[in-house]
Amino acid sequence: MKLQPGELLLTTREGSEADLVSELPGARVLGPALVAAPSDASATATPSRLVFARQGFPVHAVVAAEPTAIATALAEAVKAAVAGAATAWTLQAWVADAEAANQLAGDLRRLAAAALQAAETTSPRFRLRHVDSAEQAHTMDGALAQLCMLSRTEVAVGATRTRDALSLIPGGRARQKAEAAAPSRAAMKLEEAFEWLGRGPEPGDLCVDLGAAPGGWCHVVLKRRARVIAVDPAQLSPTMKGKKGLSHVCASAFDYAPSEPVDWLLCDMAWRPLEVAQLLAKWAKRNWARQLVANIKLPMTKKLEILTRVRETLTEGGWQDVRARQLYHDRDEITLSAWRTA
Ligand SMILES: C[S@@+](CC[C@H](N)C(=O)[O-])C[C@H]1O[C@@H](n2cnc3c(N)ncnc32)[C@H](O)[C@@H]1O
Repeated sequence: MKLQPGELLLTTREGSEADLVSELPGARVLGPALVAAPSDASATATPSRLVFARQGFPVHAVVAAEPTAIATALAEAVKAAVAGAATAWTLQAWVADAEAANQLAGDLRRLAAAALQAAETTSPRFRLRHVDSAEQAHTMDGALAQLCMLSRTEVAVGATRTRDALSLIPGGRARQKAEAAAPSRAAMKLEEAFEWLGRGPEPGDLCVDLGAAPGGWCHVVLKRRARVIAVDPAQLSPTMKGKKGLSHVCASAFDYAPSEPVDWLLCDMAWRPLEVAQLLAKWAKRNWARQLVANIKLPMTKKLEILTRVRETLTEGGWQDVRARQLYHDRDEITLSAWRTA
């Protein structure tokens, strides 16, 4: 069935479509990295709480890939989203993150620019309130209009308030810069996690990093001028040797206990998710850490079932507000965050 106005259009990592469908009653796979869900599906699953959605929007219209048709649909969609408020809006255009769709990205960029120009003549007052970035629109409690190119000939158009958007990044592709000095690409996962949370360790904070080798996450934490105890039976990269604020406990995380409570518990252990969850729950029960960021490996097909049990274990342990998201840099894994009061 083709995408219909009123449905929710969502994008995910290619290969995770079935995981996203399992989160939303009545949802279906539209194509690689794209899922459609009935509008009432969001009543049972709040879009911002979806684990496997990178970005999405309620579809206002599916129109021809032609600037005037897009400009008209944009004006209608934004007007409906802001419900009469005279606020700013911005436009993001994206394609699904899959090989064939990625080839349409250039066409879409040109089309989006032409549609913005067309809006100048079709609805000049509406065009006047356009701002260049989602962050700018967000500071004015504005709207995020989105275009998703479904094929060479069809574009889905929609808009929401920025506060209801899943992400303020086009297509939710929160790509981090690979740093030559970081000992592993895993560093990008933690950078993205802190960006997602809008916070991270402060200078002087004490962190424990379980499963730390070769040291990418430690590198990120040290850059923030926090201190870190790396716990891993494997060796850290030689480039991490002697770094100020870093110590290495060469042991299994299951045998380790901190000598004092810490500010952040970080965990990227390559280990079975339910056993990792029990370990993280133990940290909460014993008041060993206040904040948690953990990357949980989910190589199995039914990821959501295991993830539900992981979340339950953490909550029973005393972690609060357990949030989970498959971030852009996550593969067969998801990132969890939680906190607890001392
Ligand atoms: C994906 S790597 C971590 C990468 C690291 N976060 C970085 O940024 O470089 C997974 C790590 O988990 C460690 N690991 C597996 N079992 C562990 C255990 N029981 N205790 C501590 N670390 C463990 C492995 O030795 C490996 O270094």
